Amino acid sequence: MRLFIAIRFSQEILDTLLRAQEQLRLGGARGNFSAPENLHLTLVFIGESSDVPTLRRVIDRAAGAAFPLAVSGAGRFGELWWAGVEKNPALEALASRLREGCRKAGFQIDGKPFRAHVTLARQLKYDTPPRLNVPRTEMTVTRVSLMKSERLNGKLTYTEVYGRALV
Ligand code: 2AM
Repeated sequence: MRLFIAIRFSQEILDTLLRAQEQLRLGGARGNFSAPENLHLTLVFIGESSDVPTLRRVIDRAAGAAFPLAVSGAGRFGELWWAGVEKNPALEALASRLREGCRKAGFQIDGKPFRAHVTLARQLKYDTPPRLNVPRTEMTVTRVSLMKSERLNGKLTYTEVYGRALV
């Protein structure tokens, strides 16, 4: 199965992100919008694996204290539009412990620098670039999730296969 490690959002942050998608739509943009239940922050993309027990151990070892996180601002990688995540040493440290743990356990993790972002829409097309303003919204991160990604009846579906509390 296709796996990734992620942070799932509070309802308040989800509301901010849904309003951001609405701004894109109202601005006349068309594209492949992330379904509301799929909005998340990826920490490590694993790819195809069935080794959930090893990944659970990696996550358990990397988990630390709960920490605050804020989404704020927006940007794009080509046609992929994202909401930003405020610079956050605790988040970066967690992502590097997870990546290092995955590598040591034998998973091939890409060496690209971690760029925290929340994908709002892919393949976004428009005549005039839409305005996008994502107001700063904060939450406390209290859980890290191992997520499975699959197509069910043609719909991209993410399911948590393991969750570890941060205390
Ligand atoms: P993206 O939103 O920028 O595409 C599930 O696919 C999650 O893993 C998404 O958040 C996706 O980021 C991220 N991801 C990172 N590297 C990926 C890759 N090589 N292929 C697919 N998804 C990747």
